Amino acid sequence: MSYADKDIERVLFTAEELKARVAQLGAEITRDYRGKDLVLVGILRGAYIFMSELARQIDLPCEADFMSVSSYGSGTTSTGQVRIIKDLSEPVEGKDLLLVEDILDTGNTLYYLREMLAARRPASISVCALLDKPERRVKDIKADYMGFTIPDAFVVGYGLDYAEHYRNLPYIGIVKPEVYGG
Ligand code: IMP
Ligand code: MG
Repeated sequence: MSYADKDIERVLFTAEELKARVAQLGAEITRDYRGKDLVLVGILRGAYIFMSELARQIDLPCEADFMSVSSYGSGTTSTGQVRIIKDLSEPVEGKDLLLVEDILDTGNTLYYLREMLAARRPASISVCALLDKPERRVKDIKADYMGFTIPDAFVVGYGLDYAEHYRNLPYIGIVKPEVYGG
């Protein structure tokens, strides 16, 4: 139970389910990145909770850096316009970048970020997204590590927001359409 239960139509993933799946992703990444120069690149703000759990499930030396981008305003559909609000703090040339995202929706954000970061000559760039909404994809991009595939519904919690609300919910749920006037 939480303060927001009245706004949630259906819980998709409980805190326990999220924790278990993130542990599996961490184990896969640990296997694949042994001996590499791993930098976790968290995409703020949606990835902040996912990234903090994932990082603790990766049993390797790694760096953590963050970018903040905006593509949305406060609506529920992507505009295709991506604005960098905060860039990485460190150079990434020669590093193995793992972009950590909350959700891959149209793909506009990650497509743009991947192109932009590739120009800085890292050794590799991969994508780890907690959620995937493949039905909504506009850009040709796939996650190398993916938590869960979900239907085309607007979800919140575990870092994901609607108009900056609900990020602190411990679970992920579908928002009632009446909350955003749908
Ligand atoms: P894309 O550029 O359309 O792939 O959108 C990616 C970003 O849109 C994510 O990082 C989220 O911030 C936001 N987003 C997409 N779908 C949802 C959702 O269902 N709930 C909350 N945020 C979402
Ligand atoms: Mg958002």
